[in-house]
Amino acid sequence: MKKIDWPYEFPGAYWINKKEEEAVSDVIKKGSLFRYYGLGKAKYVDRYEAYAKSFYGCKYALGVNSGTGALSIAMNALGVGPGCEVIVPAFLWVATVGAIIQNNAIPVLCEFDESFNMCPDDLERKITARTKLIVPIHMAGNPCDMAAIMKIAKRHKIAVLEDCAQCNGGSIKGKKVGTFGDIGIFSLQLNKNMTSGEGGLIITNNEKLYYKVFSGHDMGLIRINGRLAKPEPYAIAWGQGRRMTELCGAVASVQIKKLPKIVKSMLASKKRIKKMLSGIKGLAFRKIHDPQGDSGPFIIMILENEKKALSAVEKMKAWGLHNVFRIADYGLHIYYNIPSLVNKVPLSEAGNPWCLSENSKSNYNYEKGACPKSDDLFLRSILLPIPSILTPEQEKSAVAVIKEALKD
Ligand SMILES: Cc1ncc(COP(=O)(O)O)c(C=O)c1O
Repeated sequence: MKKIDWPYEFPGAYWINKKEEEAVSDVIKKGSLFRYYGLGKAKYVDRYEAYAKSFYGCKYALGVNSGTGALSIAMNALGVGPGCEVIVPAFLWVATVGAIIQNNAIPVLCEFDESFNMCPDDLERKITARTKLIVPIHMAGNPCDMAAIMKIAKRHKIAVLEDCAQCNGGSIKGKKVGTFGDIGIFSLQLNKNMTSGEGGLIITNNEKLYYKVFSGHDMGLIRINGRLAKPEPYAIAWGQGRRMTELCGAVASVQIKKLPKIVKSMLASKKRIKKMLSGIKGLAFRKIHDPQGDSGPFIIMILENEKKALSAVEKMKAWGLHNVFRIADYGLHIYYNIPSLVNKVPLSEAGNPWCLSENSKSNYNYEKGACPKSDDLFLRSILLPIPSILTPEQEKSAVAVIKEALKD
């Protein structure tokens, strides 16, 4: 098989052009790198947030410096702390679980289903009297079953934080991800659907939560016309210094306008590739609840067993699909690959959060085997990134490689 030329992922990076360059150089020329004051008041973060509100269809949007920071601030604002359990899916990213630990609470793993997102049935089984928060993660571009998740959350009166880091621009029946739960967060890191290199966004429709996250991302107070002001008592906090810079805001304010095109391009390639792969014996795809709302950056292929998945990935890599993964080997996206979680590494020598008396009833195991249904799917599934600039020839050659790799 002839080796093919397959691009790296980094969806938004391919779309950077003069527009981002001009916005960034405007910030530099004006000497206004800080969002709240500066020599020439560039105001790009303001612009990004204003556009985000209309794009996602929400009342409040706050730019921050990373998705990790957004998660930590949002969990804090939602009252997560000692004595609390937070439910996350077994297929995740280390930062999501890390934010729970940073807030001195205990993560509880939930199985995912064939959609590779949180399984609503298992979610209900994992709820205890200590469950404070549910964190559905729209993994690898595909929205979760939010109708089922919200129904359960409402029945048990538990808050929901949507982690949309991997699904920016995704939607369910036309409603954008991030607007179903109490708070939605996004990442603008380089390998996300839109990027400013680093960066994040918090969205909500709840005024109190907005002022809480605002306080939390800054200095523990709010700002009026860029100047610190004392908020209502509920929003006085310990700020984490996670403001977005004007340089990030400049890039983000341009990229967010390109996001629908980036998503459209990936989704179109993904649909064409899946169509060309349809009907292959022993090959199934992850379940997609709303094919129109998928944001498209990955295809997940499910094979009959581990042996076939291992052999197919090896061949695909050798023939040029250098960035495919058997999902079990996809690093810190798999709960049992996270050493700090498996070993319950504390935040400090005090042993927190694992040794806190408030958490004594929340004793969970995070080793392989904790989520058997997910473990089985991890072992026999393959993740293929779909770059946002594929040509029809590249799509066809990838299909040829995959077909050949799947031959017995
Ligand atoms: C699901 C998920 N949540 C959170 C994050 C953290 O975002 P950031 O890298 O911007 O801190 C990521 C980033 O990779 C992610 O994939």
